[in-house]
Amino acid sequence: MRLILVGPPGAGKGTQAVHLAAHYSIPHISTGDIFRANLKEGTPLGLQAKSYMDKGELVPDSVTNAMVKDRLTHGDTANGFLLDGFPRNVAQAEVLRAILAEKKTPIEAALELSIDNAEIIKRLSGRRTCRGCGKVFPGQFEKCDACGGELYQRDDDKEEVISRRLEVYAEQTAPIIAFYRQEGLLITIPAVGDVAEITASAIRALSQKLS
Ligand code: AP5
Repeated sequence: MRLILVGPPGAGKGTQAVHLAAHYSIPHISTGDIFRANLKEGTPLGLQAKSYMDKGELVPDSVTNAMVKDRLTHGDTANGFLLDGFPRNVAQAEVLRAILAEKKTPIEAALELSIDNAEIIKRLSGRRTCRGCGKVFPGQFEKCDACGGELYQRDDDKEEVISRRLEVYAEQTAPIIAFYRQEGLLITIPAVGDVAEITASAIRALSQKLS
């Protein structure tokens, strides 16, 4: 399965990606997680990305595209992958299409998680992330239930940055929905409600689409 998850910040892409990647036995590739891991290690890539992420802006395409191109050469992607947070504009979608055309392994579906802004703001302002393993939690958790790590609030989950991320999504990322619709790859599901039910509805929609 070669799958893309599309949706605004806080739609639950990371949450659903964990379950979908396990279901299809494919790696979960999150560009945001790769940037945050680099930042934690203090690499030049992490420091460069931070200056954009903290403002809610996109990291430049030249940096992001090269990083994804390299990640897609890893052996664990041979049987598919789930991309979470990439592509994030039409230029990135075109680069991805070209990379995969060369390998003759095109995207099979783009799954859009649909949600309104009020629910997004509620989710993101309450979200806490584990410093150890990166797992995300709604606000009421105090420690990570997977590794016991400390939970923190992402710098880009502060209110003023959330509103910029939503603007950037509307201006730059939302056009990829029309791109994938035109390619005949788009599936849209509602992303509000029980996490397990959303996963089940995604799997149902994907198997219908790919049958
Ligand atoms: P990234 O890390 O990709 O952030 P994002 O797209 O803004 O998405 P989020 O991680 O905020 O939300 P999510 O949809 O994964 O939701 P989650 O599952 O956590 O990117 C961060 C930054 O990196 C970007 O702003 C940019 O600067 C840079 N970047 C990344 N990719 C890039 C690219 N391709 N090009 C350029 N720059 C790039 O859920 C959110 C909360 O809701 C959690 O607390 C969760 O527990 C809760 N939740 C989830 N599902 C439910 C549910 N069903 N009901 C109730 N609560 C729920």
